Amino acid sequence: MDLRAFLDALDGALLRVPQELSPEHEMAALLRAVEGRGLTVLFERVAGHPGARVAGNLLVTRRHVAIALNTEERHLEATYLKRKAQAQTTRTLPPEEAPVKEEVLTADGPLLSALPVLTHYERDAGPFITAGTVFAKDPETGRRGFGIHRMMVKGERRLGIFLANPPLAAYYARAEARGEPLEVAVALGVHPAVLVGAVVPENPTGPDKLEVTGALLGAPLELVPAETVDVEVPARAEIIIEGRVLPGHREPEGPMGENTGYYFTNHSPVLEVTAITRRRDFIYPALCPWGADVDVLFALAGGTELLGRLRALVPEVVDLELSPGTPGFSAVIAVRPCSPARVRRLIGLALHLDRRLKVVIVVNDDVDIRNPREVTWALATRFQPDRDTVIVPGLEGYVIDPSVGNTGVTAKLGLDATRGPGPEFDKITMPAAAIAKAEAVVESLLG
Ligand SMILES: Cc1cc2nc3c(=O)[nH]c(=O)nc-3n(C[C@H](O)[C@H](O)[C@H](O)COP(=O)(O)O)c2cc1C
Repeated sequence: MDLRAFLDALDGALLRVPQELSPEHEMAALLRAVEGRGLTVLFERVAGHPGARVAGNLLVTRRHVAIALNTEERHLEATYLKRKAQAQTTRTLPPEEAPVKEEVLTADGPLLSALPVLTHYERDAGPFITAGTVFAKDPETGRRGFGIHRMMVKGERRLGIFLANPPLAAYYARAEARGEPLEVAVALGVHPAVLVGAVVPENPTGPDKLEVTGALLGAPLELVPAETVDVEVPARAEIIIEGRVLPGHREPEGPMGENTGYYFTNHSPVLEVTAITRRRDFIYPALCPWGADVDVLFALAGGTELLGRLRALVPEVVDLELSPGTPGFSAVIAVRPCSPARVRRLIGLALHLDRRLKVVIVVNDDVDIRNPREVTWALATRFQPDRDTVIVPGLEGYVIDPSVGNTGVTAKLGLDATRGPGPEFDKITMPAAAIAKAEAVVESLLG
């Protein structure tokens, strides 16, 4: 259950790159160039880092997540919801059984310069760690948690860390209120199911996110104590960065090309690195912001969570898709026939339940919500703006949305593009027998 086992399971969906490429822009450009082909990439030679390898586009399609969760693509959402309810207690391994302890780098020698951290976009302020899962404990209750947090390399042992979301942001706020640093450990090169676990919303009254990750893996998450901080880390990761997030200090972090498709700069806390442990022949994980990996991660954790909650409240809800390229800001929901008033209730629920969701389009289930052509067709032909628009002003905005500005407040929008009752809204179709025959002919001609 590690990154290597996942890469082995990918088979034809893995592209090995033997040419030497630089982590500065070149690797990110290649990742974006092949994401449309659904390829994970293993860079076998990294300029400036002899012996290191880099893997990216890990969750580039839904099929990749299905492989990570050991299920089939069509069962992905159902598997996620079922497994999530089957939390698994974590297991602690002795250090000698933990591959991530093969090499221990301490504060006297090179630390961050020993890792091939990628610089992605043209105006990025420097290299950013983007696939790091940051583990910590609540300084008051001891509850464990983790999340994906971007980190800017600022020196040999200094990272800027963007802490906007729970649970980590809350742990840091509590540590800071006590005037204490927050001890953290960043796991790099984890099994992709752990990346999915990182994006599952924290449920403060349920099992912790590490136990939920075990559920997604279908096996307990194996941990090992860190060397210099009081945090347990995934034993089968490729690399661990240990350190302390300093209290009462902020400095500029960014700009970095974000998951919104825009550069974003923040005043962020600083993580002082105390040690790095890693496998001898480690693989550094890349994740290109605003890329397909991000769409897939948000769709599976955020989208499926919301779908499950909405279905329980509005029985006509069939499916939900978070729109690619928007980090959870925009969604399309498919419903069985229901009244306009019911659709309005659904729109209100969706916009309020999900903090990030800002634009929601509701269509009927004769529309393929994963096909933008069909969604815009429904909008163009079934929607009347003055009758079918819901605007909710004055809600909490999301910090990386540039249109929110300094107020922190956003309006949200719902569009009811469901069909009217008459036959004029019936979609045109062809006879099933003709389609089947045509497919057979095409198959015989093209193979
Ligand atoms: C690719 C990716 C990058 C992320 N980067 C950050 C980040 O830099 N800072 C942050 O606070 N949250 C970031 N998040 C979100 C957190 O991991 C978040 O805790 C997680 O999505 C849980 O959802 P919730 O915020 O709805 O509870 C990122 C998520 C993804 C998928």
